[in-house]
Amino acid sequence: MSHKEEFTLKINGETKVFLAHPMERLLDTIRSDENLTGTKEGCGEGECGACSVLVNGKLVNSCLIPISQVASSEIETIEGVANSESLAPIQKSFLENGGAQCGFCTPGMVLAAISLLRDNPAPNLEEVKTALSGNLCRCTGYKKIFESTLICSQMEDQQ
Ligand code: FES
Ligand code: FES
Repeated sequence: MSHKEEFTLKINGETKVFLAHPMERLLDTIRSDENLTGTKEGCGEGECGACSVLVNGKLVNSCLIPISQVASSEIETIEGVANSESLAPIQKSFLENGGAQCGFCTPGMVLAAISLLRDNPAPNLEEVKTALSGNLCRCTGYKKIFESTLICSQMEDQQ
């Protein structure tokens, strides 16, 4: 087992220093070290998207990423999406349009939707489906999630 090393990450705008093994999963850094438990562990194998976060703006599965690979990066988790006053438009849209169905998949779905809308503010349904294809729902289905993302894309202030 390698020795622990210091890694600096910016998480939701705050610079943090971690003493960790280089292969520690980013998911564990976020959940266990930072206590940001909105990021979920589902499969632990890169298949479900429950652990999705944004690293330098890119959607990743944090269960597959060692902390050493994201040293000095900017990490956005679900906790950083809302500001202190209100939910982000995508969160409001999920709430109002039935996209927030369970606490397990929703954080990852919201981050996947944010990633899409930053790149493509006016996606069509197929583009939404593709963008969220790495995020699995095991229960209620995707219709409301896709609709919530599309409705958000039609809001004036979508982010
Ligand atoms: S827990 Fe990371 S993809 Fe499923
Ligand atoms: S797994 Fe969350 S709504 Fe299906």
